[in-house]
Amino acid sequence: MNNPILVRKLLKSEPIPYELLLLADEEMQAIERYIYESVIHVAETDGKIVGVYALYPLDKKCAEIKAIAVDEAYQNQGIGKLLLRHAESIAQESGFQELLIGTPSIAEKQLRIYKKAGFTWFDTKKDFFITNYAEPLFEDGVQLKDMAMLRKIF
Ligand code: ACO
Repeated sequence: MNNPILVRKLLKSEPIPYELLLLADEEMQAIERYIYESVIHVAETDGKIVGVYALYPLDKKCAEIKAIAVDEAYQNQGIGKLLLRHAESIAQESGFQELLIGTPSIAEKQLRIYKKAGFTWFDTKKDFFITNYAEPLFEDGVQLKDMAMLRKIF
């Protein structure tokens, strides 16, 4: 991938990139619980949307990245890190003092990326993926149960 990546806000007139969001959050119903109140940004290259994140305001001082995803063909090329950094600047510019991100407690790759970006694990939502999803979810054959909550304070 040699062409530049542009990160920009998704226009109201554009369709929500559900296909990408579903990589991060497997159930449409779960996505619909936060997506309409979120600010959505996309990563674009060659006129193609290849990444997305949804920033959801929890309260005046705290926002959460509810979903972040990169098209499989574009993963491991730094776009995830770029989106994380972008989400941080947008959260800071918007006056939030804290940024949260949650991921399955067994999601080693995601946890590593978030920790490297300066997020720290501060809470575990026990049985989150059992209670909040209609069907059991699996990653690499392991059922998802707990959600690790990480945060970065500005
Ligand atoms: N194994 C080990 N390390 C890896 C791997 C891998 N398979 N892939 C990437 N990395 C490392 C990279 O080397 C990099 O580390 P570095 O800082 O040492 O260079 C770091 O992870 C970040 O890599 P990026 O290329 O920026 O990440 P990417 O563009 O692949 O995006 C993401 C990461 C968003 C997690 C992507 O893999 C993805 O969309 N996955 C599927 C959806 C998903 O799981 N989303 C997150 C769910 S949680 C939530 O949405 C709140």
